[in-house]
Amino acid sequence: MAAKREELDSADAHASPFEAIAERHLVQPWPVSGSIGAEARGVIDSGDGVYVTDAQGRRLIDGPAGMWCVNVGHRREELARVLYDQAMALTYNSPWYTTNAPSALLSERLAHYAPGGLDHVFYTTGGSSAVETALRFMQFYNNVRGRPEKKIIVSREGAYHGSTYLSASLNGRPRDQDWMDSASHLVIKLTCPNPFRRPAGMTETKFTDFLVGEFRETIENVGAERIGAFVAEPVMASGGVIVPPPGYLPRMRELCREHDILYISDEVVTAFGRLGHVFASGEVFGIEPDMITFAKGVTSGYFPLGGVMMRSSLFEELRQSNHSEAMFAHGLTYSSHPIGCAVALRNLELLEEGLLAEAQALAPYFQAQMRTLSDLPLVGEVRGLGLMACIECVADRVSNNPLTLDLEVGKRIDRHCQELGLLVRPLINMCVMSPPLTISRAQVDEMVEILRKSIELTQDELTREGLWKR
Ligand SMILES: Cc1ncc(COP(=O)(O)O)c(C=O)c1O
Repeated sequence: MAAKREELDSADAHASPFEAIAERHLVQPWPVSGSIGAEARGVIDSGDGVYVTDAQGRRLIDGPAGMWCVNVGHRREELARVLYDQAMALTYNSPWYTTNAPSALLSERLAHYAPGGLDHVFYTTGGSSAVETALRFMQFYNNVRGRPEKKIIVSREGAYHGSTYLSASLNGRPRDQDWMDSASHLVIKLTCPNPFRRPAGMTETKFTDFLVGEFRETIENVGAERIGAFVAEPVMASGGVIVPPPGYLPRMRELCREHDILYISDEVVTAFGRLGHVFASGEVFGIEPDMITFAKGVTSGYFPLGGVMMRSSLFEELRQSNHSEAMFAHGLTYSSHPIGCAVALRNLELLEEGLLAEAQALAPYFQAQMRTLSDLPLVGEVRGLGLMACIECVADRVSNNPLTLDLEVGKRIDRHCQELGLLVRPLINMCVMSPPLTISRAQVDEMVEILRKSIELTQDELTREGLWKR
């Protein structure tokens, strides 16, 4: 395994003793069979603001903000104090029989920000459990309303919704399902709304018509009485920052309304400032979903917390059913965790005190600077919205084919970036950036400069190895 690691990382295979221990004892997320349980990944020792420091002492800009989550930046003393103070006041209480002040106060604040009528929240432990909760609620809701056949979930190619059984069944990125079981009988996947990959010669407007038409036909063919929910990230994150064409989301929303299909907006990445607002569904895309799932930025990664915003009219319908005894048999030990909710309240204050406005002001600059990289011949497209962006590399700009290119190209760019002081999130042929919202213009410039140098180095390397021609 050390050999494999050396291929990917020029650093000493065991820059830190913890790397060696992890290689012996840790099962890391998303492993492959060839190295499962025996994989070394670089150790990050500390973080401060937009930077992290690795075990070799290299200071790196945290390009992906951890996993799209450290929105307010690392090492915020205000948040660390809340963790401590809340642990000393009340570490935990059972949400089965009791409640606590931070979760109640946070639910009131979140209801204030959520679009029309989503004034309740169910707290979870992260994004997957939030999506799982929303889907199980849809099943329960339809059972109680006497329509047990209305359970099919419509998702999209390119989506990522989590790693629990049902949430993972919605995933549609390459390799997500190759070796995994899933509840595929419950899921239908529509075309990914990626304008960059639309059929040659088709306008964006026609592409949108096609996508909406495909959903309409699916409803007609399957039957609205069998479709329970449509689940969509407003901007597909892990699928490569796919910003849908204008008008697509409102039209999909409208179809759901017409056919009594619950619209679940998965805002695990796009909420809490990433697109400049607490929630993006209403303020950025003009839609009012039936449920919104969130996690990550709600605590900026300082504590694992997620949740589902729910439309209260759904509860009204349940109350009016003939089954007042029907129980939503779903709950997590750490639902409404007082420490997580207290941290989320302070995190929200930081956003309100200026970070949301700063993120909105910085977004056009960040997007413009990232797009300067599109002159590089290896780059097929730079796209993004707010403070999320993706550089997609292609074998050639005529076919835009990502597949004949070395599939590890994102990792190659990441390796050069790390040597030059930037952490990147490599995704096959793409690099995804979503820095902490606190990043300055000068740091954006530094990031883009490092990306340019690293892509140039990768181009040279691929040319030398005969894998790519300019
Ligand atoms: C849109 C989206 N939904 C759900 C999830 C799953 O969240 P978690 O990893 O916190 O379970 C993710 C994770 O990246 C995500 O990007």
